[in-house]
Amino acid sequence: MAKKIYITTPLYYVNASPHIGHSYTNVAADCLARYYRQKGEDVFFLTGSDEHGQKIAQAADAAGKEPQAFVDGVVEHFESLWKLLNISHDDFIRTTQQRHVDVVQAALTRLKDEGKLTREAYNGWYCTPDETFWTPEELAKKTEDIENPVCPDCQRPLEAVQEEGWYLHLRESQEWLVNFLKKNPQWVRPESRYNEIFSLLKDDLPKYLCITRPKARVKWGIPVPFDPEYVTYVWFDALLNYLTATGYLVDQQLFEERWPAKMQIIGKDILRHHALYWPIMLHALGIPDDQMPECIFAHGWWKIGEQKMSKSLGNIVDPNVIVTVFLKEQPFAADVYRYFLMREVNFGQDGNFSEEGIETRFASDLANDLGNLVNRTLSMIDKYCDSKIPAVSEATLTDADKALQQSATSVAGQLDVLMPRLEFSKALEAIMDVVSQANRYIEEQMPWKLSKAGETERLHCVLRSLAETLRTTAILLTPFMPSVTQEIWRQLGFEGSVPELDQAAQWLKIPDNQSFTDHPVLFPRPKS
Ligand code: MSP
Repeated sequence: MAKKIYITTPLYYVNASPHIGHSYTNVAADCLARYYRQKGEDVFFLTGSDEHGQKIAQAADAAGKEPQAFVDGVVEHFESLWKLLNISHDDFIRTTQQRHVDVVQAALTRLKDEGKLTREAYNGWYCTPDETFWTPEELAKKTEDIENPVCPDCQRPLEAVQEEGWYLHLRESQEWLVNFLKKNPQWVRPESRYNEIFSLLKDDLPKYLCITRPKARVKWGIPVPFDPEYVTYVWFDALLNYLTATGYLVDQQLFEERWPAKMQIIGKDILRHHALYWPIMLHALGIPDDQMPECIFAHGWWKIGEQKMSKSLGNIVDPNVIVTVFLKEQPFAADVYRYFLMREVNFGQDGNFSEEGIETRFASDLANDLGNLVNRTLSMIDKYCDSKIPAVSEATLTDADKALQQSATSVAGQLDVLMPRLEFSKALEAIMDVVSQANRYIEEQMPWKLSKAGETERLHCVLRSLAETLRTTAILLTPFMPSVTQEIWRQLGFEGSVPELDQAAQWLKIPDNQSFTDHPVLFPRPKS
């Protein structure tokens, strides 16, 4: 049985259309999934939509629709964006699907039967935009105004809640979680987020997590199977999706193939849910420590001019507009966008999103460096070698050729260190350094002079070394820009798909005299 590399993204709330923040997580997860596939691994890449809860019910109400009809409409915007951005997920889970409802209800029943749930009266605060509970004790530590508190995470007003419900013990598992984290220092990444969770655990956790909402107030949720007055709290419901999609409780063989998750990518806003509640839920369900997800990676936020993106500020950026309007002259607009997101900031840190930022990055890295290298190389082979990639003998390679070969063929190994750590920007930097080196090599070797001087053997060596660099670069860039690299592959005269990553450690692999045809410009400069 082949063990899968299981990669997840959060399930996005379908109360409104997707924005660049949502696309960021999915592009990152996609690059990772494509990297592992190109390593020959079996990948199971999951994304989806979070469709229950008060926030969705309110949005449906405002749109004058029934919640199910409303989410059915909004989810299409997410699905079409993932198509546009070339997201290669293997499954798209919706929390309203029957397969998920069944697992949530079975999990609730199991926890209740094993005495892990209690029915209690609750007195606290609720943040509807974040769908998050806050106990008076937690708030007291974080807010001055205890009468009219705001949410410590998003600063929006909280709603007082006094009601009965079903509770999962949190504090009971606190010691277990602390020990688990101590034994698994890589469990939350980057390190700053691990430290954040660890310091949260220095204080007592709230005694319980309320995992239900009274139907009288919130109708739109998964019914609690043993208590008809309640629906399931939307976070308890949504987190379980990561299990549902593996066949948990339904198909043991599938479950063993897929579970545990190797990498769960989230934004830093939902760290508490994934690094406190989620492991405690899994522990309560009897998932052993060595079957916990391997890593929760919380990335940073894209801001707009240092401000948070929000509806009230009216500064929400739609990725569809960036790709289809702002980058409309680009034949590979989605790849340009993907490249920008992955290269611009180190994954884990915050970044500033702007069209000027995309323009600058596009001009320097893609048009001037990569596009130019492809175009110059193939145009020179057109001119001097009749569009056939020249043969060379290894014995004639000079130190300069070998230096280029050495740089290009060593990047695959660097990717094997950087990609599992989600250091996307550094990985791209390493690849693009080779591209810059190849452009400098052209200036130094001056193939046009070699041609004039009739030094054909040396000319062929240089042009072949450049073509080999393009071959290697195309393989290495594939997880990030799958359409551009497929086109470079075609322009080099290859048929079929770009091969596995370890091929990028090889040199002189283009068949001698391979011919190619057209090579249109990959990254045309915008008309001003
Ligand atoms: N539905 C919950 C997640 C449940 S997972 C079991 C949720 N959904 S959300 O629609 O609000 O999406 C939150 C996620 O979107 C963040 O964790 C992050 O991945 C992404 N982003 C939202 N805004 C963002 C930025 N401004 N910048 C980067 N990513 C952000 O929370």
